[in-house]
Amino acid sequence: MTAFHNRVFSGVQPTGNLHLGNYLGAVSRWVPLQDQMETIFCVVDLHAITAGFPDPATLRHATREVTAAYLAAGIDASKSIIFNQSQVREHAELAWIFNCVARMGWLNRMTQFKEKAGKNKENASVGLFAYPNLMAADILAYRATHVPVGDDQKQHLELTRDIAAKFNNDFAASIKELGLGVPNPTPSPETPEQVYFPLTEPMIAGPATRIMSLRDGTKKMSKSDPSDLSRINLTDDADAISKKIKKAKTDPDALPSETDGLKDRPEADNLVGIYAALAGMTKQDVLGEYGGQQFSAFKPALSDLAVAKLSPMTDEMRRLMGDQAEIDKVLKDGAERASAIAEPILKDVRRIVGFLELR
Ligand code: TYM
Repeated sequence: MTAFHNRVFSGVQPTGNLHLGNYLGAVSRWVPLQDQMETIFCVVDLHAITAGFPDPATLRHATREVTAAYLAAGIDASKSIIFNQSQVREHAELAWIFNCVARMGWLNRMTQFKEKAGKNKENASVGLFAYPNLMAADILAYRATHVPVGDDQKQHLELTRDIAAKFNNDFAASIKELGLGVPNPTPSPETPEQVYFPLTEPMIAGPATRIMSLRDGTKKMSKSDPSDLSRINLTDDADAISKKIKKAKTDPDALPSETDGLKDRPEADNLVGIYAALAGMTKQDVLGEYGGQQFSAFKPALSDLAVAKLSPMTDEMRRLMGDQAEIDKVLKDGAERASAIAEPILKDVRRIVGFLELR
């Protein structure tokens, strides 16, 4: 290989409800990439057991539901690889090697671990702590170059780059000797001429990189928020969507005409961002249309837009969930195609590290 092949990898955990943040921050942004690069989308079931094992039937259901959401959102199984992580053993194997590349100090800095583990760090699973190493393995088992995610994954992607860089450095001699490297696309005196893993580019852009709770504009919209009113689930029907937007927290002022006027108005900023992302507009375009209007006028418009955009998708998800065999077929085919890429990469990694291969 003379250069890294452009390849997109991303994933969603099958835990609890998929919500508007997952859709606007991630899945909806994957759809156009399918026509630009090779794309791999994973349902990360190995990640879904890090915060406690869900009931097995619930995990199976959620894995199929996330797959249905990918398909309903416009991910096309003939263009993209869609699969569930546990079907491709290379993820777990590479994660183990990365457990030995990453440093405790790096993982100790991960804010998501601190948030998820809460006060009782001693009782968190080792898997929750090592979670970012598995995420790095997901990406690098395909030597993926681009990862489209929401803003909350930024730190994990920086760690992925650190792991790739340390591996490339630590094994520079072995990579060169075996002739398995690619010319370093960003050469410098401190980095090797030949590298094995790319430094993945995070793709975090647009008006919806961080969708906030509908009940509190300072908190991220999340699957784990105890209030269902805080999020729009991808399984909500039109009535539920309208009700949640109607009840969304706002302030008493009219919408500003310029984005500067959204500063210190987290709820207004969030609703304008949601509108912009759903309509494929910028926040400034939205304010050009609605600046000066009250929420009593803006909310019904947002609600109509959300229902028009999301209802066809939720209907399709429901239809797909009624056809388990179709979903399983997509996942099985995807796992075969994913394995065909990851297997030779892990074969290289084993040789680079020095494991004997006798079979
Ligand atoms: P997860 O399952 O928490 O979220 C899936 C995707 O949704 C984005 N997201 C949001 N975007 C905007 N606003 C929000 N409120 C919001 N909430 C979630 C996330 O940024 C993410 O893109 N560790 C990852 C899954 C993962 C992964 C990977 C992603 C595992 N391996 C490899 C990319 C590449 C996670 O837990 O995402």
